[in-house]
Amino acid sequence: VQSPGRLQAILGEPTPFDGLDARQLRRRRSYKWSAYPPDVLPAFVAEMDLPLSPAVTATLSAAVAAGDAGYAREDLLPMAFAGFARRRWSWEVDPDCAVLMPDTMSGVARAIEILTVSGDGVVFTPPVYGPFARTIERLGRKPIEAPMGYAAGRWQLDLEAIDAALAAGARAVLLCNPHNPTGAIPTAAELQALVDLAAHHGAWIVSDEVHGPLALPGQQFTPLLKLGPSRAITIFSASKAWNVPGLKCALAIGGDAATSRALNALANELRHPSHLGVLAATAAFDGVAGGDGWLDQVTRHLAVQHERARALLGELMPLIRPARADAGYLLWLDCRALNLGDAPATAFLERGRVALSPGLEFGTQGAGFARLNLGTSGPLLLEAVSRMQAALATSG
Ligand SMILES: Cc1ncc(COP(=O)(O)O)c(C=O)c1O
Repeated sequence: VQSPGRLQAILGEPTPFDGLDARQLRRRRSYKWSAYPPDVLPAFVAEMDLPLSPAVTATLSAAVAAGDAGYAREDLLPMAFAGFARRRWSWEVDPDCAVLMPDTMSGVARAIEILTVSGDGVVFTPPVYGPFARTIERLGRKPIEAPMGYAAGRWQLDLEAIDAALAAGARAVLLCNPHNPTGAIPTAAELQALVDLAAHHGAWIVSDEVHGPLALPGQQFTPLLKLGPSRAITIFSASKAWNVPGLKCALAIGGDAATSRALNALANELRHPSHLGVLAATAAFDGVAGGDGWLDQVTRHLAVQHERARALLGELMPLIRPARADAGYLLWLDCRALNLGDAPATAFLERGRVALSPGLEFGTQGAGFARLNLGTSGPLLLEAVSRMQAALATSG
C-alpha cells in the first residue's frame, strides 16, 4: 500500500491549474459534471476542468453585459485563425478559404457530403472518436476500417491498410489529427505519405484537427493543408483547446478555392455558428491579452498531467499500459492485463466511482481499453487514479 505522502510526491511541483475546487466544478451544469451522481468523479467526456482563458472570459463577459447575443459575423474569425496558424505552425491560410461551421462534427459531416456520394466508402482509423463511424453511416456512406497500428510504444496510421481500402474503391479518408483517443500526432512524413496515396487513388482527405492546438510542448503538429493537398477539407475549432465546445463554432477549410466555394455554398442553416462561439474563438485565436501565452500554460500543464498519470499508474496499477500521447488531455489505457473483460470502465465506475470513457465507444478495437480525461488538476487526477485502484482492490 502506497502512503498518501508518496503519491503526493509523485505530483511534484504544483502547476497554475492545481488549485481546482471539486465542489465548485460540481456547480457546472455541463454534461461532464452533471451526467453522474455526486459521488462519481467524472473523467470521461472531452471537457476540461480548467477555467476559461482571461481573453475568452473578458470577451464573453463584455458580450453578455452588452446584450450582444445576436447573429454572428463571418469575417473576423478566419482572420484571427490565419494569424494563429502563421504564428503557431508557420502555415499560411487564406482567410477567404475558411468557412464557419456550427461545430467540428457538423464540419466533418458537411465535408463528407460535399466530397462523396451515397454508397461511397469512407476510410477511418479506429479506435477513434466514436461519432466518426456513426456520422459516415448516417450520411449513407460506407464506414471502412483501417485500424491504427501499434508499434514500439506508439500508435500510428496503418498506411498500408488505408492504401488497400482506397485501392478497393473507398473515396475518402477521415483523419483524426491529432488522434483521439490515442493522442498520437502523425508525423509530417506519415501525413505526406497519406497525401500521396490519396492523390494516387484520386481520393479525398477530411482531417479533423480540433486537438491540433493542444500539441504538447516539444511535439510537432502538422496541419494537413500545410502540405498542400487540394483534394482535402480540414476542420478546426477552439472547442477543445480553449474548452468552449458548448459555444458551437468551428472552421472548415478547403484545400483549394473550388472546395472552399462548395463549403461556402452550403445553406445558411447548415453552417451558421453561434455568435458567442465566434467571439470566443476569435479572442482565443487572436492571442491578445495573453491568448497564446494561455495556450502555452495549458499545454505545459497537460504535459505535467501526462507525466503524473504515467507515474501514478506505474505505482498503483502497473498492469495498465498507458499510450504515449503527443497531444491533448486524453489518455488511452490498455487495461487488458487486469482481466476486467471488454469494459474495464464499468468496473472503475461501479466499484471505484470514477467515470472513464469505455474503450468500446471508440470501436471494437477498444475492447479491454478505457480513456481517462486528465484535463483537470493534479489532485483530481490523483483522486481519479486512486478510485480506479480502489475498484481493483474490491474486485474480489
Ligand atoms: C476528434 C474530435 N472531433 C470532434 C469532437 C467534437 O467537437 P465539437 O464539439 O466541436 O463538434 C471531438 C470531441 O471530443 C473530438 O475529440
